[in-house]
Amino acid sequence: MAKTGDGESLGTAEGAVMGRAAHALHAEDPVLDDHWAIHLLGEASRAQVTSPDYLALSIERAGFDASRILAIGVGALRYAEDEVERCVARGVGQYVILGAGFDTFALRRADLVDRLVVFEVDHPDVQALKRSRIEAAAETPASLPRFVPVDFETTTLEAGLSAAGFDPDREAIFSFMNTTPYLTEEAIEATLSEIARLAAPGSRIVLNYGAEVPLSAAQVEYLETLQSNVRASGEPWRSRFRPEAFEALLERVGFVLIEHATEADLFERYFAGRRDGFRPGVPGRLVTAEVAPRG
Ligand SMILES: C[S@@+](CC[C@H](N)C(=O)[O-])C[C@H]1O[C@@H](n2cnc3c(N)ncnc32)[C@H](O)[C@@H]1O
Repeated sequence: MAKTGDGESLGTAEGAVMGRAAHALHAEDPVLDDHWAIHLLGEASRAQVTSPDYLALSIERAGFDASRILAIGVGALRYAEDEVERCVARGVGQYVILGAGFDTFALRRADLVDRLVVFEVDHPDVQALKRSRIEAAAETPASLPRFVPVDFETTTLEAGLSAAGFDPDREAIFSFMNTTPYLTEEAIEATLSEIARLAAPGSRIVLNYGAEVPLSAAQVEYLETLQSNVRASGEPWRSRFRPEAFEALLERVGFVLIEHATEADLFERYFAGRRDGFRPGVPGRLVTAEVAPRG
């Protein structure tokens, strides 16, 4: 169940946007320059993030260094954004962000407003909080996404997307970043299967998932700490996949795999050469896949 909150009882949507706001504010060369993120924070979160000691304080508060998982989150959104730009360049005009949380793409990408309609799918409570934060923001958004309230565990996508004006006959790009671990395998498969049936062939999806792969002792320890944190926050991780099982799932529901990248690929692409040590530190996989032609 998605949570909303501020300060002590943060939902994961707010936790993620806090990390992006801090990264955009304090990093020398941000992997994703999410300057809008700061406007979506509640007062207590904004006060924490603007402190120059944010990282040290958050390590002290949480008892572990969240920057290694934050780097996965930030890198994944940059990976998505790069694919969206490639799709827009070839004329794709619809972008559906699944598990959007406090994503800021629509709010900050003034350059794409005329070419791209953005749909955001998330739990209705998270969307309500986000809308109120946008209304109260100190900056005017470049555009507003079309909000599609959905609980992936209980609701299908099609009716909501259709009511929001999604055109199934035109190609679309979907992203599903930093969200699948919070969903059951059944909800993930049902959602991907629905997209493969609903979206025009050639439409693409970019997503990441928690990988069930051999781990070092340090990785095991880090992941255990992380899992007990997310469990305590009320949004436990519910799924992990072996990479070959995830590829089989994609094929089964009607996608053709384009790229299956590792956290090491993510490092090479976006983090190599950084001097601040910011880098992905947990195993994760990123996928680009395309809706297969219907036979
Ligand atoms: C860690 S946040 C990631 C948000 C955003 N994609 C990002 O990278 O910042 C996970 C998101 O999944 C959403 N979520 C989790 N379970 C959900 C469900 N059953 N239905 C709809 N959304 C859900 C949460 O509300 C939250 O916004």
